[in-house]
Amino acid sequence: MKAVIFDLDGVICFTDKYHYIAWKKLADKNGIYFDEEINNRLRGVSRMDSLEIILERAEREYSLEEKEAMAAEKNATYVELLKEMSPADLSDEVKNTLEELRTRGYKLAIGSSSKNTKMILGQIGLGDFFDAISDGTNITKSKPDPEVFLKAAEFLGEKPGDCLVVEDAMAGIQAAFDGGFESAGLGEATGHPQVTHKMDSSKDLLEICK
Ligand code: G6P
Ligand code: MG
Repeated sequence: MKAVIFDLDGVICFTDKYHYIAWKKLADKNGIYFDEEINNRLRGVSRMDSLEIILERAEREYSLEEKEAMAAEKNATYVELLKEMSPADLSDEVKNTLEELRTRGYKLAIGSSSKNTKMILGQIGLGDFFDAISDGTNITKSKPDPEVFLKAAEFLGEKPGDCLVVEDAMAGIQAAFDGGFESAGLGEATGHPQVTHKMDSSKDLLEICK
């Protein structure tokens, strides 16, 4: 293993609650039922695909124009919430793990479906930390498609077989498997049948990446 590719939301930092607040505000405004369980299905899924999942509970059809306006409105709320994030939102455990992996010589990258990746990394003080960033701005298909991780490996100049993907989402483990990567799962991702390593917390990476 030469490199580690990290998912962002739910692995490096915890933006789930902000996604939830922003989607909930939009759903309530439009009279669409939305709860934490539906929010869990949005992990690793792109903004527009997330909206499609939310609209499964809507009572009418929405035009593409309306959907684009809804996604933009949700993102505006979300970005306002992200402005509250700071380096205090990066846990000591994640920070120390990243620094130790770098000391051990691993290349480190981000592989996230989020188009807000660079803003979030900046907010938590990791704006210049990673060797490569592959995110929602350079892909056409979001997880479970492997594109975001294949691009991360390409940006690093490494083969998928030499990179470990770290994920908290089922869709992310599927993407890693289909792209030919080993994976390390956190939370619900440990339940995926194709996960290579099951972790309790991110410091377990120091046992996997010796
Ligand atoms: C990550 C999150 C998803 C989110 C997606 C797009 O993968 O886990 O919940 O929908 O990014 O985020 P964005 O910031 O582009 O709306
Ligand atoms: Mg995630």
